[in-house]
This record gives sequence, structure tokens and C-alpha cells, in this order.
Amino acid sequence: MSYQNAITTLISRRYSCRSYTGEPLEAAQRQALQDFIAALPGPPFGSAVRLELIAATEEDRGALKGLGTYGFIKGATAFIVGAVRGGARDMEDFGEWMERVVLCATDLELGTCWLGGSFTKSSFAQKVAARDDEIVPAVVAVGEASEKPRWVDRLVRQGAGSDQRKLWEALFFDGDFAHPLPREAAEEYAPVLDMVRRGPSASNKQPWRIVKGNGAWQLYLQRTPGYGKQTLGLVKIADMQRIDMGIAMTHFALTAQELGLPGHWELRPPQIALPDAGTEYNVSWVMSNG
Ligand SMILES: Cc1cc2nc3c(=O)[nH]c(=O)nc-3n(C[C@H](O)[C@H](O)[C@H](O)COP(=O)(O)O)c2cc1C
Repeated sequence: MSYQNAITTLISRRYSCRSYTGEPLEAAQRQALQDFIAALPGPPFGSAVRLELIAATEEDRGALKGLGTYGFIKGATAFIVGAVRGGARDMEDFGEWMERVVLCATDLELGTCWLGGSFTKSSFAQKVAARDDEIVPAVVAVGEASEKPRWVDRLVRQGAGSDQRKLWEALFFDGDFAHPLPREAAEEYAPVLDMVRRGPSASNKQPWRIVKGNGAWQLYLQRTPGYGKQTLGLVKIADMQRIDMGIAMTHFALTAQELGLPGHWELRPPQIALPDAGTEYNVSWVMSNG
């Protein structure tokens, strides 16, 4: 369960790839992804998550339409599809796990794109034989990236503002939300926060906020007003912003680990004022020497 490249390299290299060559994955790449999935450590909140690599058929590509995904994916030859049993931190655990696999695909020089929508009743859910108590909140397209992005990819990227990230000061705080954390003040954790900031998020909303204090880094979700309450007909779309939090956890923990900064996740909400009603505590990274 390790990567060939440095985690900071993989996180920096990853982007949402929406055009693929249509070449099937090589057998060795398929095997490596399957082995990686089989060796994943338990997700941080202990939800029952399972992930599977499936080959894409023409039908699947068609099935993406109308599922609430906003990009246009061309030529993906595989998908990572997963299901999670409904529970308190199901979406975070799903995001945490899936992003580890996304980085494994990046390590194998494959392109990926997270696709969030309403997959629970779709043909993707059938492929993983999702049970009634399971949710299929998102899938990830995988394949050999086409070297030439299409004009439509550029439009989607511009539409989601994909190349931009919020300013460091808008994301990271010192002690409470009233005090932005200058990058220098993050000291050895500065690259860890850089890697969180670089992460993918649904519609590039970047809902993660981190407050430093009491020997820990507290992760919060600041919900984008009006986002995440969408429905598709009668079907509720999964809570994408909690998936984003899980992705942030993976980027945080893997980078800290690589930099030799020991710590662990714990639910230890601090007593601090929240900036708005849409901000909720997620989890704390408690530093071992903190
Ligand atoms: C949970 C989640 C759901 C996403 N859903 C879609 C989607 O349905 N369609 C799409 O084209 N991109 C989707 N994306 C990709 C984001 O738009 C992308 O991560 C963001 O714009 C930042 O760009 P980057 O990934 O290239 O850095 C999703 C990302 C996440 C994390």
C-alpha cells in the first residue's frame, strides 16, 4: 500500500481529466489498482465502504448523462465505483478511500475524474450490486489521458474555475476563525495545508477550513450556500461537500506521513465561535508531539 512517487508529486500532478484516448487499461495497471484497493487500511470513521474497478462499456458512458454529473467525459475505459453503508460519517470515509485510489491511478500515470451525482439507482450501482442500505455517491472515471484536451474540457474547467484555489488566508486559521494563519506560521505543516488546498472538490467549491490550536489541526466544512441540497427529480444527490472533506483528510494525512509529522484523527471539537450557520466541525488531526 505505497506509492512509487512522492505524495506531494502525485497531488500536484492530479487534475480532473475529461478526455481519454479510449485505450483500455493495461493488465498491470488494472492489477495494481485492484491490489491497492484490496490493501486499503480501514477508513478513518470505520464506515463500511467498498470500491471496485470496472471496465466501462458504451452503455456506462451513456448512463453518465442525466445522473447530475456536469462534465462531459470522453473515452474513459474504466470506472472506480463504490458503495458505502449509510452512517454518520459515510461520505467522509467514502471520499477518504476513493481519493487514495485516485492518487494510485495518478501514480500509474492514468488520468482520473471524480463524478458526483446520483448513482444509487443507476447501472453503476447494479454493477457493484449495491444493497438497499448502501449509497453510491460518486464514481471516478479512469483511463489513459488524451494529450489534447477538447475545447469543451476547457469550458468545463473555466465554468468550475478549476485552475483557481481560494487564498490561503481564506482557508486556514490560527486559534479561531477571526485570525487567518499566515503560511509561515504553519511552519512544518505549511506543505500539508498546501496539499489540502490543491485537492479536488465538487464544483471546485473548496469547502474545507482548518483551524490550528491545542496541539491539533481542526478540520471544518463551510458549506457553500444553496449547494448540496439539489435533487434530481425525486432522487437526492449525495452530500458532495462531505466527500470533499474526506478527500482533504487523505491529502492531509498522507502528506503529514510523508513529511514525518506524526498524528492521528480524533473527534475533539474545540469551543470556538463558528463564522456562520453553514460551518460544521469535521475532525481534528491531533499531533503526536502536540
Ligand atoms: C465529490 C466531487 C464530485 C465531482 N463531480 C464532478 C462532476 O460531476 N463532473 C465533473 O466534470 N467534475 C466533477 N468533479 C471535479 C471538480 O470539478 C474538480 O475537482 C474541480 O473543478 C477542481 O479541478 P481539478 O480537479 O482539475 O483540480 C468533482 C469533484 C469532486 C471532489
